[in-house]
Amino acid sequence: MENVYGEHYGRLIALQEELQSKIALMDQELERENDSRLIDHVMVRLKSEESVLEKCAKRGLTPTPDVIVTNIHDIVGIRIVSTFLDDTLKVIDAVRRLPSITIVEEKDYISNAKPNGYRSYHMIVRNEEGYLAEIQIRTISMDTWAALEHDIKYKKDIKANKELITSELKRCADELASTDISMQTIRNMINGQI
Ligand code: GTP
Ligand code: MG
Repeated sequence: MENVYGEHYGRLIALQEELQSKIALMDQELERENDSRLIDHVMVRLKSEESVLEKCAKRGLTPTPDVIVTNIHDIVGIRIVSTFLDDTLKVIDAVRRLPSITIVEEKDYISNAKPNGYRSYHMIVRNEEGYLAEIQIRTISMDTWAALEHDIKYKKDIKANKELITSELKRCADELASTDISMQTIRNMINGQI
């Protein structure tokens, strides 16, 4: 079967590699500037064909390679997971300064969590060839919640206890958010900043 990305496939892989290597350099620079590692790990993925087709169907788009590449902004997805809350801000700023990369859009779900409790900072970026990628920046706690929530809810039609499940997930998100703040404060104390 032919790839849904058609002739764009190679360019998308190139964008993925371009961002991966620029972020690796950025990671090293941040470590030098701050005398500690800010990034715990980086995840990279190309959206699966199944997921692309599903998104097109939902939006009523005919899934030709051109339509897909223009309308779906997270074909190339990168997740930068940082250790502490303050580090996310430094990482976001460093992404804004990546060479030959333009920021198209930013969504701050860290300051403004989604109603379900989801927290993360999203950036849509474009390379010089015009291809788009989504970069998500979050702490380990935010990443833990998103992974567990996704695991629990993905493709599941929750019938019983829907309200309780929703409010419990939100409670866990709030607890993790408060832990992020506590851990940041503890680090500041250890570093003699308080
Ligand atoms: P899509 O959700 O991708 O259709 O686009 P959008 O324009 O709504 O973007 P948004 O910034 O809301 O979300 C983009 C991506 O963030 C998703 O594909 C997920 O990876 C992640 N995300 C957003 N909301 C949630 C959430 O409630 N739970 C989890 N686990 N991930 C989320
Ligand atoms: Mg969404």
